[in-house]
Amino acid sequence: MSARRREVADLAASARVVLAELLEEGINSFDPPEPLAPPRVEDPVPPPAQKVGSPPVVRPQTPPPQATVQPASTPEVAASTSSKIIDTEELAARWGPTPTLEAVRNVLGDCRRCGLCECRTQIVFGDGNPNADLLFVGEGPGEQEDLRGLPFVGKAGELLTNMIEKGLGIPRAEVYICNIVKCRPPKNRDPQSAEVKACRVFLDGQIAAVKPKVIVSLGKPAASLLLGRNVAITRERGTWHTYKGIPLMPTLHPAYLLRQYTDKNRRAVWEDLKAAHGRTTGAESA
Ligand code: URA
Repeated sequence: MSARRREVADLAASARVVLAELLEEGINSFDPPEPLAPPRVEDPVPPPAQKVGSPPVVRPQTPPPQATVQPASTPEVAASTSSKIIDTEELAARWGPTPTLEAVRNVLGDCRRCGLCECRTQIVFGDGNPNADLLFVGEGPGEQEDLRGLPFVGKAGELLTNMIEKGLGIPRAEVYICNIVKCRPPKNRDPQSAEVKACRVFLDGQIAAVKPKVIVSLGKPAASLLLGRNVAITRERGTWHTYKGIPLMPTLHPAYLLRQYTDKNRRAVWEDLKAAHGRTTGAESA
């Protein structure tokens, strides 16, 4: 292969990874660039001409899924979010080093530590076996979860439940499922960093209470939070990591899988779940 062809092949491979990541984050379209206004007579400098060869606008053939990236919340909510100083050490000290889920839930209380409390129907703390071997971490409650007070009970939840019950052959009630944030972000937008910061201590409390043998993070935000860096989920899924000494398997989010329901993605998530479950039973497949 000529150097030029190799360069083009490398570029195409990188573009595929970037596009897969954008899709994983629910971004499958870009706003078209503003049309260039004709220069006004009094403009001292004419606007730059659009570059020849600039990347084409990616337009989906199908309508975009439910928006996940939205503008920030209202000014009042944003203000109340950023003005709260959360003393996470003091909170964690209230339940101590070996908490129960009940103790963590009690400290969470009728939480008003971030702006998400303004629009939630109810807190979605977590669901499942308090002594589970396998603990799943998602991103945040959606509409159904907010209404029912349970994580992963909407469309993505149905898929996750099926993979656990029909795929792994264990009842959903045997695992523990929770989220990074415990309240639904408005219009399912991504949780903001102040919200994640405010809620993180409770996720850590849940992990300390359940003491799972394996954590499975669902999607890029959960993997990135637990690994403390920007995780390229489509590249790093299926590889073992640790969180506070607990083996961590990042996999794709079931909502992404629903949008990109390809054999490749289904097989990937299935392999990840099998490996995670295998590690809890000692019958490792990875
Ligand atoms: N997506 C999540 O990340 N968590 C839920 O509870 C539901 C959908």
